[in-house]
Amino acid sequence: MRPEVARRLTSGIFGQNYATSEQTTGEVLAELKPERSSYWLTTKLSNPPGIEGQPGATPIAVADVRSSVEGSLKRLGTKPDLLLIHNPFVVPSGELEPFWRELEALTAAGEPLEGVSLGVSNFRPQDLEALLSFAKVKPVCNQIEYHPWTAVHSAPILALHAKHGIHTQSYGPLVPVLKAKNGGALKPVLDRIAKRLDVDSATVLLLWVRAKGATAVSSSGNEGRIRQLSQTARMATDVLTADDVRDIDEAGSKTHYRCVPGRSDLTPGQRPLTTSLPSLPLSAVSTPPTSNTNSPRRTCRRTSETGRALNRSLC
Ligand SMILES: NC(=O)c1ccc[n+]([C@@H]2O[C@H](COP(=O)([O-])OP(=O)(O)OC[C@H]3O[C@@H](n4cnc5c(N)ncnc54)[C@H](OP(=O)(O)O)[C@@H]3O)[C@@H](O)[C@H]2O)c1
Repeated sequence: MRPEVARRLTSGIFGQNYATSEQTTGEVLAELKPERSSYWLTTKLSNPPGIEGQPGATPIAVADVRSSVEGSLKRLGTKPDLLLIHNPFVVPSGELEPFWRELEALTAAGEPLEGVSLGVSNFRPQDLEALLSFAKVKPVCNQIEYHPWTAVHSAPILALHAKHGIHTQSYGPLVPVLKAKNGGALKPVLDRIAKRLDVDSATVLLLWVRAKGATAVSSSGNEGRIRQLSQTARMATDVLTADDVRDIDEAGSKTHYRCVPGRSDLTPGQRPLTTSLPSLPLSAVSTPPTSNTNSPRRTCRRTSETGRALNRSLC
């Protein structure tokens, strides 16, 4: 995709909810008409916006799955390549099987999602195991927050991915750079490798994700960085050595921090929304090492709505 198209897409959807992101995406695609084969388009079935414009806690009724999908397609003006369930709580409690059956039916010949891959996001091991016990169309991927600070707690879900051939998509891959500019055990390791490779430490993190066999879903509203992302994607696969990966693993394992935490601001009775790492206590994720001026919430809200990805995904 041309950098200009990517920049317009990302800057156009900052701070919006998923429906308006789809709308803006559709408008930019209609205006700039990039070749369909030049970009990868991912969208999500998401709950209606809730607190602070974040996805809400209201699930999508099974009877509304078709109309939700049709709404997404209409707003985008084109079929996505991949449709994700944004988190397990998009699905009404206990209704994962009929919900997934609806999606499977929509991928049949002549149906709106024919040719579209289905995936999930923020699914915990128990969600994935339940889904795999009945799915005829298996999810191709699980998009989770994945970077060196979540790696230890991601082990159970990653093991399931490996066992069932489900691809790991990493959102928030740059969290350790964005959140620990002034310190943290990982910083000197990233800096050392970045210097040797003559890249920045953000690039090293993206290479780490790739070395782990996952796909980094990153974003930028900056044209220079968008070019940099596409250059990173073309770097040789062995540019990061096994020792580099081990050093990053080791330094990263000293910090446990998630940018998109389990929700601590829910009223009693509400369930947490983002739960890819349920074993991670909230206390462990509340403060990044040597926190910068931006609060995690503020920066993450801004970045989580952007859509340019290293693998050309638009979420
Ligand atoms: N499934 C989910 O629940 C979920 C949750 C969150 C996010 N996501 C998806 O993940 C994707 C990206 O997530 P993310 O924004 O959290 O990814 P990220 O890669 O961790 O952060 C992206 C941010 O990093 C900055 N950046 C890019 N390159 C940089 C560099 N070389 N040095 C320093 N900063 C750099 C960008 O700022 P500039 O714009 O200034 O370049 C951008 O704001 C989005 O498409 C979103 O849909 C999914």
